[in-house]
Amino acid sequence: MINETEHTAKQDVTILKNWPRLIYRVGRNQAKNILNLISGRSLTTPSLVSATLDQDDVTIAKKWLKDRRQWRDQSIVAQYESEFVRWNQSKHVFAFMGGRVALSACIYALGLQPGDEVILPGYTCVVVPNAFNYAGIDIVYCDIELDTYGLDITQLEKKITPKTRAILLHHLYGLVCRDFEAILNLAKRCGLKVIEDCAHATGAEYKGRKVGNFGDCAFYSSEQSKIFNTTQGGLAVTNDDDLAAKIKEYYDQAPLADDVWIDKLLHNVIINFYQFKHPGRWWLGDLTSLRYASKYQVSTTREEEEGNRPEHYGRRMPAPVAALGLNQLRKIDDYNRKRRETAKLWDQWCQNNGYTPPLVIPNSTPVYLRYPILVEPEKKQNTYWALKNPGVNIGVWFVSHTHPAIREVVGCPNADIAVKQCINFPGVIL
Ligand SMILES: Cc1ncc(COP(=O)(O)O)c(C=O)c1O
Repeated sequence: MINETEHTAKQDVTILKNWPRLIYRVGRNQAKNILNLISGRSLTTPSLVSATLDQDDVTIAKKWLKDRRQWRDQSIVAQYESEFVRWNQSKHVFAFMGGRVALSACIYALGLQPGDEVILPGYTCVVVPNAFNYAGIDIVYCDIELDTYGLDITQLEKKITPKTRAILLHHLYGLVCRDFEAILNLAKRCGLKVIEDCAHATGAEYKGRKVGNFGDCAFYSSEQSKIFNTTQGGLAVTNDDDLAAKIKEYYDQAPLADDVWIDKLLHNVIINFYQFKHPGRWWLGDLTSLRYASKYQVSTTREEEEGNRPEHYGRRMPAPVAALGLNQLRKIDDYNRKRRETAKLWDQWCQNNGYTPPLVIPNSTPVYLRYPILVEPEKKQNTYWALKNPGVNIGVWFVSHTHPAIREVVGCPNADIAVKQCINFPGVIL
């Protein structure tokens, strides 16, 4: 295992080796920009990620980079947690360095043991099965429906065995999943625990309550491609006092993210803002990525894609990240309103172009992290089609059943279709 300094040194060597590639990428981008300028096309399209980063977040990141005295001040984290529970109408919350870590805390709290089975959607992000694998839990993949890309209740019933202990359901793309109530009822009847994966759905509501308050516990993500953004970060939530005490046990033994990590993360706020949000991102993005090349940090490492637990996994959130979270929370309702307004435009586009909009189940208020539709398989491969037609860069979540890694998931025909045909439009274009 390598320590943090070695890790950074290793990354720096990789960056040095990657300079030619970086220069090539910048050159290619700028050549494209010149072509766009000549042909009168727009220089930017709405970004799929980091939509909620603004200049005020950059100011916060710079302030924390300049003055490091409060980096270990956990009262700011406590303030973030109490703001989140108030806003989310929940009882207990714990802030970690990723939704995936918050999920690991939930797994620990539920007392799941090696040999237990958990049912997961066969269309998910690889860090979700990873968290169960790290704990030695057996994973059973279940097919999804294609209305909201959530677990399909009829398939789910068939997957339950005497070893099943828990179901993980997700509200993908910010849509409240179609079979939500039926899954909760089934779990109750069978004595199974429910974990709600709200990584895409912070702020979505069902029957007037925020999702994440219906199962036994839930987790949220503030990774840079999500509803709100601290570059990396996540929250575990429960309304059950006993589970909260167990999550607290996990939380108390979790180390804080270290200084090298925090430094990189704060720089990534700046990088992401100039790459994805600033109106001049067509050139400022490249400039910033060159300037801070050594600070660039990916959310999911190669190790995680390969199924290994990285050294930095399992950490608690430090003050600078919580300060960003507090600022993002102030804006989240406004951005979620923008997402719903944007979705109306995509609804209209679907109607005009013969595509089916995602389902909004009765009594639900989605938040549309992205606006997913099923298209012909060749269109998922063809970014120029989307640039020409809806005029955006399409998102390709997910290109495998366990995005972005490839794991064997069999017997999930709807998930197979989603992998080949689901594209997503940006959630915020207004
Ligand atoms: C469906 C889903 N669940 C969980 C996660 C994990 O969240 P985080 O990146 O904060 O660990 C992600 C994204 O990474 C996701 O897409």
